[in-house]
Amino acid sequence: MTDRPESSRGDRDTPPTSRQGKGQEENASSEAGFSTLRLCINFRAGDFLPSCGARGAKRLHEALGEEMARALPDMTLKPVHCLGRCHLGPTLRLSPRGPFLLGAQAEDVPFIVDRLAAGDIAALQAAFPDPEAGGR
Ligand code: FES
Repeated sequence: MTDRPESSRGDRDTPPTSRQGKGQEENASSEAGFSTLRLCINFRAGDFLPSCGARGAKRLHEALGEEMARALPDMTLKPVHCLGRCHLGPTLRLSPRGPFLLGAQAEDVPFIVDRLAAGDIAALQAAFPDPEAGGR
């Protein structure tokens, strides 16, 4: 699932809500409260400045969109424009209020989706660390 990019770098996270209908299965990530995976697809200054768009976000977005639609239908992939980690991207962030996952590429999608389905957020943080998180 994808929709239009957000225009702000701000965090618009909202608390988890029950959006599942009766009888729908949830994956482990959504059970942990993460309903959305945000991906920055921003190009800054036509590739002259570091940006997720210049670091593989387009291919990552395409691959994640396909795989998440298949394996994680209850999670949303939301393209956004800049999450403030431009030089470390592509930037992913679990939402609401989840960790940043930095530097993933399209070839990492099977691992990412598998770990999301298992709710193994620690493995994702270890594989795609955020140096600004101070080891969280
Ligand atoms: S360009 Fe992706 S975080 Fe800024």
